[in-house]
Amino acid sequence: MKTGIFYGSTTGDCERIAKSLAAKLGADLHNVSELSDATLQAYDLILLGSSTWGYGDLQDDWEGAISKLSGANLAGKKVAVFGCGDSASYADTYCNAIGLIYDAAVEAGATMVGGGVSTDGYDFSDSAAVRDGAFVGLALDEVNQAELTDSRIDAWVKSLA
Ligand SMILES: Cc1cc2nc3c(=O)[nH]c(=O)nc-3n(C[C@H](O)[C@H](O)[C@H](O)COP(=O)(O)O)c2cc1C
Repeated sequence: MKTGIFYGSTTGDCERIAKSLAAKLGADLHNVSELSDATLQAYDLILLGSSTWGYGDLQDDWEGAISKLSGANLAGKKVAVFGCGDSASYADTYCNAIGLIYDAAVEAGATMVGGGVSTDGYDFSDSAAVRDGAFVGLALDEVNQAELTDSRIDAWVKSLA
């Protein structure tokens, strides 16, 4: 199964996470500025990552990419979403970008995987990434819970197998 990762990162946190995922999955790594219907079609499993900025917004490099994603044809593709945020300073919009990307991938007809991630051990009030009580993808917090990142990545990668 060919795996590709597309990520957006401003200060390097989500980039580090994307690199770690790429190493563990043997995946190709792309900045999200390279996302297009053609680049997506090269993969069977696609991981999409973003940090959250502003007040619950996508990372800047995603602004041009999100409509390309929702307009792509991802029927038959598996897609998983990940991201990072700050659950203490932005407790009401924690990792919202994960939810925004999830919705765009669903619109593109993707088969979503890597969801149902328990919110146990996280400390936040609200997130667009939570549906039916669980995260729709891997939520990380490099600001307040960096020590949990490696184990959270490992557990999530196993769930994608
Ligand atoms: C101005 C500003 C706004 C932010 N807004 C949010 C937010 O709404 N939700 C959230 O979870 N994190 C928010 N964050 C935290 C970042 O997502 C966090 O620092 C993240 O690790 C940055 O990752 P990056 O280096 O990959 O961009 C914000 C940070 C800053 C400085």
